[in-house]
Amino acid sequence: MSSEWRTAWITGASSGIGREMARQLATGGTAVAASARGAESLQALSAETAGKAKAYPLDVADAEAVAARVREIEAEMGEIDLAVLCAGVWKPFRMSEWEVQNFRQGIDVNYMGVVNALAVLVPMMKGRGRGHIAIVASIAGYVGLIKAETYGPTKAALINLAEALRTELHGTGVTVSVVNPGFVDTPMTKDNTFPMPFLLPVETAARRALDGLRTKRFEIVFPRRLAYTLKLMRILPYPLFFWIMQRTVARRQ
Ligand SMILES: NC(=O)c1ccc[n+]([C@@H]2O[C@H](COP(=O)([O-])OP(=O)(O)OC[C@H]3O[C@@H](n4cnc5c(N)ncnc54)[C@H](OP(=O)(O)O)[C@@H]3O)[C@@H](O)[C@H]2O)c1
Repeated sequence: MSSEWRTAWITGASSGIGREMARQLATGGTAVAASARGAESLQALSAETAGKAKAYPLDVADAEAVAARVREIEAEMGEIDLAVLCAGVWKPFRMSEWEVQNFRQGIDVNYMGVVNALAVLVPMMKGRGRGHIAIVASIAGYVGLIKAETYGPTKAALINLAEALRTELHGTGVTVSVVNPGFVDTPMTKDNTFPMPFLLPVETAARRALDGLRTKRFEIVFPRRLAYTLKLMRILPYPLFFWIMQRTVARRQ
C-alpha cells in the first residue's frame, strides 16, 4: 500500500495506539519518526519495521527537547507531512487520596506535551503552506466522567484547542484533526478495574484513526456507539445528565 504521507512524526510511539499507528504507516511505505521516552521500545519498533520507523526519543513535557528533535527529524528525514500527537498518561483518580501530582502530570504530558509540539510544528507547516496535525484526545473529554478527574479535563482542553486551531489555520494549507478514541486495549487500559464497553483491539483503533486522517476530516471517533452516547449526554440539561450518570456510569463503577 503506497502512502499519501512521505514522512510522519508520531509521539507516544513506544506503546499502544501510537506504536500501532507507526507500525501500520511504516508498513504502508511512510517514513516514520517515532518518539516517546522509552528508547529501547522505539528501537524494537525500528527493528520490527526494518528501519522504516526511526527512533527519536524525547519527553514531550520538555519544550526545548521537542523543538530540537523536530528540527533534527526534518533535517534527517525531510519535511513532516503528518504529525500524530499521541503521547499521554492516565492515572485513575481516587477520592480518598488527592494526588495533585497526577493532575499536574496530566497537564504537563497530555496537554502541554501537545502544545510543545504545536509550537514548533505550526510555524513550520504554515511557512510552507502544507501539513496535517492529528491531536489524540479522547471521548473522555466530552463530559466529566468519574475516575477520570486527572485525565478528562486534559482531553477536553485538547478538543477545545483543536477546534480553535482548525478554524484559525483554515486556508493556510495546514489541517488540524482530533482523534477521539473510546476504550482501546493497550497498556494504558490493562489495569482498569471498571467495565470498558466496546473495548477495541489496538490494530482496529490505529486503522480507524489512519483511515479517518486520510479523509482530512476534523474529528475521527471510534467506536461510534459509545461516542455518540456521550455526545448526546453533553447536550442534555444538567438535571437529566446527572440523573443518568448517577444511575448508570457511577453505579457500575
Ligand atoms: N487506550 C485507550 O482506551 C485510550 C482511549 C482514549 C484515548 N487514548 C489516548 O491515546 C493515546 C495513546 O494511549 P495508549 O492507550 O496507546 O497508551 P499507552 O500504551 O500507555 O501509550 C502511551 C504512550 O505515551 C508515551 N508517553 C507517556 N508519557 C510521555 C512523555 N512524557 N513523553 C513522551 N512520551 C510519553 C508512552 O511512552 P513512554 O512511556 O516510553 O514515554 C507511550 O508511548 C493517549 O494520548 C491516550 O490518552 C487512549
